[in-house]
Amino acid sequence: MTAKLGVGVLGTFAWANKAHLPGYAAHPGVDLVAVCDVVPERAEAAAKQFGARKVYTDHRAMLADPEIAMVDVCTPTDTHLALSYEAIAAGKHVLCEKPLAHRAEDAFACARAAEAKGLRTKIGFTFRYSPAIRQIKAWVADGTLGQIFHIHGLEQNSQFLDPTFPLRQVPAGADFAKLIPMSIVGYGSHLVDLMRWVGGDFSAVAATMSNFVPERMVRGYDGLQRIACEDGTAALVEFTGGAHGMLQTSYIAVGNYPGIELRVYGSKGAAVARLVTERGIAETLHLARADAVEFEPVVLPASVYPPGTDLTTPWPELYYRNLVRYFVDEIIEGRPPESTFRDGAKSQEIVNAISLAHAERRWVSLPLYPDA
Ligand SMILES: NC(=O)c1ccc[n+]([C@@H]2O[C@H](COP(=O)([O-])OP(=O)(O)OC[C@H]3O[C@@H](n4cnc5c(N)ncnc54)[C@H](O)[C@@H]3O)[C@@H](O)[C@H]2O)c1
Repeated sequence: MTAKLGVGVLGTFAWANKAHLPGYAAHPGVDLVAVCDVVPERAEAAAKQFGARKVYTDHRAMLADPEIAMVDVCTPTDTHLALSYEAIAAGKHVLCEKPLAHRAEDAFACARAAEAKGLRTKIGFTFRYSPAIRQIKAWVADGTLGQIFHIHGLEQNSQFLDPTFPLRQVPAGADFAKLIPMSIVGYGSHLVDLMRWVGGDFSAVAATMSNFVPERMVRGYDGLQRIACEDGTAALVEFTGGAHGMLQTSYIAVGNYPGIELRVYGSKGAAVARLVTERGIAETLHLARADAVEFEPVVLPASVYPPGTDLTTPWPELYYRNLVRYFVDEIIEGRPPESTFRDGAKSQEIVNAISLAHAERRWVSLPLYPDA
């Protein structure tokens, strides 16, 4: 029998408990060695709930634990880069929540550091692990959709429509008076990754970004703040392969989580995945063919869902259990890597290009960092 993979999780609060930790608890190939949080009660509660053997409150102590081969960074965004570097220096494989860094250059450098040590990395691109999205990727790869013409990526839900719902993950030191890219970072980075995963590299983008809700509660501040949070972006995309893309992200478009829609139109067929929880069902997938243009629902086999899950499983757990199982299996079985730190850096590079296109009111060519 293959040895189990020793895992340690850094940060055990909202998202870790909802998405990451159920994945480790469910994977038979995982030994959940330890959890670590600077708030001891959070780490202790998570250890109890998900069966971790050890509890740490200092990440350095956890990274020095020889039983741990892979580290999961699920802490606030500003800490991702430094913690990932430390985990790499300690010789651990790393899963890090997105974004890895605020600047794409920093994300590329971190990707190179892991590559140089032969370590595996994965960015928490949750929606790559939607069975419907993976099926569209397979249909593009096996030619079912033919030559790809158009790719539409939408990510919109009304999580931040209510100004009293606190804004999180505002970069430290951000100037509240200047437009702060938020929905394009928080949501758009996922969407950009999905569009790039199915459509290949982007060659240019044009974009417009806005602040629609000018005053909001912000985590760590008292009362409503005047903050120029970018809560909506629309972008046009040219792909190196010749396809066209349209992308929209929104924090305020009325609708349910996670509000992702991916539409791919090719010469032989078209596919639409909607990752919008409705009546307890996490997602739908439809396919049309050039000779039968009515979109038909597609039912995927049970084998595409992690054992014990189905379309009624809440989406954070459904997708993250799948993400965790892919990463653990990649490491244990030596499978080809996917959704790596380099993919995270590429997505970040495109997000930066979209921000630049808006700021300078022009098309921006990609890559921004050809030697990265
Ligand atoms: N991929 C996705 O779909 C998705 C969804 C939600 C959140 N996220 C990301 O996940 C990350 C975590 O989000 P969250 O909502 O759980 O944040 P959170 O602030 O609720 O929880 C983070 C936890 O990390 C702990 N922490 C901070 N610094 C630490 C350190 N040095 N060592 C150990 N613990 C430390 C905090 O005490 C806290 O308990 C964020 O970057 C967020 O953007 C990703």
